[in-house]
Amino acid sequence: MTRLQLGLSALALCGIAFAAGYAVRKPEPAPAAPAPPVAREIAFVPQPDSAIPEGPLGDDIRLGLRLFTDTAKAAPQFVGNDLKCSNCHMDAGRRAGAAPLWAAYGLFPQYRTKNGHVNTFAERVQECFKYSMNGKAPPAGDRVVVAIESYAAFLAKGAPIGITLPGQGYAKPPPPAQPADYERGRAVYAANCVQCHGEDGNGQRSGDEVVIPALWGPQSYNWGAGMAQLKNAAGFISRNMPQDRPGALTNQQTWDVAAYIDGKPRPQDPRFNGSIAATRARYHDPRQSAYGTTVDGVLLGSSRGN
Ligand code: HEC
Ligand code: HEC
Repeated sequence: MTRLQLGLSALALCGIAFAAGYAVRKPEPAPAAPAPPVAREIAFVPQPDSAIPEGPLGDDIRLGLRLFTDTAKAAPQFVGNDLKCSNCHMDAGRRAGAAPLWAAYGLFPQYRTKNGHVNTFAERVQECFKYSMNGKAPPAGDRVVVAIESYAAFLAKGAPIGITLPGQGYAKPPPPAQPADYERGRAVYAANCVQCHGEDGNGQRSGDEVVIPALWGPQSYNWGAGMAQLKNAAGFISRNMPQDRPGALTNQQTWDVAAYIDGKPRPQDPRFNGSIAATRARYHDPRQSAYGTTVDGVLLGSSRGN
């Protein structure tokens, strides 16, 4: 059994957890004769924050929650942009279909082709600091990492380990009918995203609070980040954006707008080895990444606009 499966009694929960339609199987047509209960897939529901214990463990869980939702302020020494972990792992790491922490935690240690060795959960956290946060990986054992691990373990309490739970990672939308296209994506962006994320993709601030995160440019994720890969951006957008109307885009529009934002300048890949072409060849899947190509007159990965 590779999925968490529960019986009919879980049906009500199923409807709530997957209101957006994620991984829910359509009910079978009413059977002529009484049938055995049909197993249904449900998302794991993490315990509420009110269950955070008192004492030292509770202190670290609370610190982890703060680091996750206010990353630049809570750990400025490790963060190089305006993002928060929770901008991409929404609802403070709880939302199914937005790479929730409760589904990630039990999948580590895990072999990753990205770095060619078995990664602990702590190392996975370090990588998001380096790439998604365009910052520096906190040293192993640093309280920042321990606190985020503590928070993730808290959310994952009671979840089965070692299996892929429904809602894990980002959605995997079907390939688009036509190849994802930057120019069509421009129009999708203008109609559905620009009012929040801005013409320059830089998001919005209110005083020193970032209220809408940057999609490209110096305050966004760098070229080594998962979100800089077309499939991850399309998967994230398909379930979660536009924020006020998730699910409103067609599959084609989703891929096109992903190609648009991931065809814009952003901070250099920390693995840059002195040559854009060589860095592209070594680290970038040409089907997923526009790094090292020229889009809209800009060589992506060069200093211009990054
Ligand atoms: C710009 C968006 C973005 C930001 C910001 C971000 N991440 Fe991620 N994160 C991703 C993507 C993309 C993946 C890969 C998901 C996949 O492969 O399905 C990921 C994966 C992960 C995973 C593994 C998830 C799994 O199911 O295997 C963890 C853990 C994680 N991130 C933690 C963090 C932490 C901690 C921070 C803040 C320090 C952070 N992330 C910030 C985009 C982001
Ligand atoms: C109503 C305002 C709004 C609209 C419209 C909107 N977004 Fe967002 N977007 C947000 C907010 C707010 C977040 C951060 C979510 C959070 O922290 O919970 C976000 C996060 C993101 C992220 C991950 C964080 C980052 O900065 O990389 C991406 C990617 C994204 N949006 C893409 C899009 C795309 C593409 C569209 C149009 C199809 C869109 N958004 C429309 C408000 C909006």
